[in-house]
Amino acid sequence: MNARSIKDLVRSDRVHRTVYTDPVLFELEMDRIFGRAWLVLGHESQVRSPGDFFTTRMGRESVIVIRHTDETVRVLVNRCVHRGARVCEAATGSARELVCSYHGWTYATDGSLCGVPRADGYDRPVAETVGGGLARVPRVDVYRGFLFASLSADGPSLLDFLGPLRASFDDFVERAPDGEVEVAGGVLKHAYQGNWKLVLENHNDAVHPAFVHASSIWAAREQSAPGTGAYSEIGVRQMLQNGAPWEVWENTGLWGAAYGHSWMGDYHDDSRLVPALDHPVFVEYRATLERRLGRDGAARVLAELRWNSIVYPSSSFMSQFRQLRIVHPIAVDRTVVHAYSFRLKGAPEQMFRDTIAFANVVNGTGSPVLTDDLEVYERTQRGLGEPRAEWVYLGRRHGGDVPHRDGTLRGGTGTSEIHIRNQFAAWLEYMTAEP
Ligand code: FES
Ligand SMILES: [Fe+2]
Repeated sequence: MNARSIKDLVRSDRVHRTVYTDPVLFELEMDRIFGRAWLVLGHESQVRSPGDFFTTRMGRESVIVIRHTDETVRVLVNRCVHRGARVCEAATGSARELVCSYHGWTYATDGSLCGVPRADGYDRPVAETVGGGLARVPRVDVYRGFLFASLSADGPSLLDFLGPLRASFDDFVERAPDGEVEVAGGVLKHAYQGNWKLVLENHNDAVHPAFVHASSIWAAREQSAPGTGAYSEIGVRQMLQNGAPWEVWENTGLWGAAYGHSWMGDYHDDSRLVPALDHPVFVEYRATLERRLGRDGAARVLAELRWNSIVYPSSSFMSQFRQLRIVHPIAVDRTVVHAYSFRLKGAPEQMFRDTIAFANVVNGTGSPVLTDDLEVYERTQRGLGEPRAEWVYLGRRHGGDVPHRDGTLRGGTGTSEIHIRNQFAAWLEYMTAEP
């Protein structure tokens, strides 16, 4: 598919439906978007000590993220250089060496081949023939403890790539009284029969909650009032707030930045913060934060209220609610999402419990909220698979975007579809740039 025909698929206020359904385009996306961009892999706390590792995907590539004995984090392609078997099937663990289960070839934590059983069967040293060991992902970098890698040897630096989105990561970390966060509480995984872009579009979509989440809003309204210590208070608060008045959504900020990133302001009012501002746990938390940052510093951090930040094309996270979701495209119509919760180090333990309760409401597979989102992704994918209607319309508040600082654009209102138009602008750049 040439650049001209790809360009024909994206217009300023609409895209052709095949960008969600064409398997050929999907393969190109894996090469040109997931093969080039900085992808979020996780957090340093998942590989604290030498030998600690986890496995994940970068587009089509299975990779091992492992801390080497020199303390650096390495990202290795999970494919044995002998006959191609996956070397590591475990999701997480700790190992001195990685041993392929097929014929026992062994790799050090930097991926170098350090052992070949029955090596006398080869004329030359095997390591020379096979190029030294597991292939290494060319670029690995860290921002505020978050691990990124790129399958491309060149491209923008991580700092340039993140641009103004850095503030969302800063906010995430600065909220910790000890100035550090860590992954905790396991991972929630969900899958849907739909294109990977649908989830990133939805996470900044302020129009859908009133419709998609109507049943959980009604159910929440029948519960006892938040603040009475009722069961799953945090869940009730979240579901109630999805039914916020229309003006709240319109007045929520929504920003788009270079490389397809975007973020949304918060639509929760103070009484629904997690925990509420006057709650003893919050009072204690604020006091510990003030010990590190001072009164003004803590107030500044707590005033930064953001809902989802999208790191295009691979992740969506919530600094204020301590959630990170990593999006794994599996096929043009199949996506898997891994959701992690974080502990703010130094914060009262009750806040972490709230984080997990919140995660169960927004990311848990039994969530009354997430399940509705997954259902609409699948309905959308089915609808897009029917050829009669060619175009997907993204025109809400089109033309109303306003230039903001740092080269970002702010949506005319919070219900703008600016974030989707912005994602497709980046999509087009990646997809038509020369290899
Ligand atoms: S395929 Fe890995 S040792 Fe043979
Ligand atoms: Fe939703």
